[in-house]
Amino acid sequence: MEVTLRIFRYNPEKDKKPHYETYKIEAEQTDQVLDLLNRVKWEQDGTLAYRRSCAHGICGSDALRINGVNRLACKVLVRDVGTKITVEPLLGMSVIKDLIVDMEPFFDHYRIIKPYLINDEPLPVGERIQSQEERARFDDTTKCILCAACTTSCPSFWASGEYIGPAAIVLAHRFIFDSRDRGARERLEELNGRMGIWRCHDIFNCTDACPREIEVTKALGEVKLAIITGRLD
Ligand code: SF4
Ligand code: FES
Repeated sequence: MEVTLRIFRYNPEKDKKPHYETYKIEAEQTDQVLDLLNRVKWEQDGTLAYRRSCAHGICGSDALRINGVNRLACKVLVRDVGTKITVEPLLGMSVIKDLIVDMEPFFDHYRIIKPYLINDEPLPVGERIQSQEERARFDDTTKCILCAACTTSCPSFWASGEYIGPAAIVLAHRFIFDSRDRGARERLEELNGRMGIWRCHDIFNCTDACPREIEVTKALGEVKLAIITGRLD
């Protein structure tokens, strides 16, 4: 079948403003949107810029707006979106070129929540033991691949790019509820700040956008409760 691909194009070094270009491609129902982008780049227009790596939904580098919805280009098939496909960069981030956005502010927010185990207690002789129940407490949020689909689908983030955003809070959740970690208080204090978790109004766009099916809004709710009650169970 023939697919029409409409792609956002912008080269700030040359273009006064963004525009869209349209490409026609022969495709199968089971082709990924990423396959189509690759075909455009390799067969029609080598100047097209986009990020990709694993092509299997693991690296998180190809989150894009596909027909207006944030998705990983490698996890969306032609049969999911039809034969007229519009591909745009994530909203709320500045465009470096075409579909590539500047992820640095996103990773700055990620660094704020100290995404590593904090524990200054003396090391036990073996490992820091954790029960299966304790591990299960934060299992869902370990699945995050930092694709930014959640944060860039959030109206609070569109309103202010300073809002720390759901992705950083999901990663904070992963450590706050880890029984081996001792840094929960400092993370919760950070998230309780002006651009922290209270900018979340439970809109659920983040949960809908997450390609890993993480219950993002639920995780944010648990972090809010921990701030209010001071309890980490
Ligand atoms: Fe991507 Fe989901 Fe992680 Fe958000 S929570 S960055 S959507 S994997
Ligand atoms: Fe790695 Fe899509 S290319 S997640």
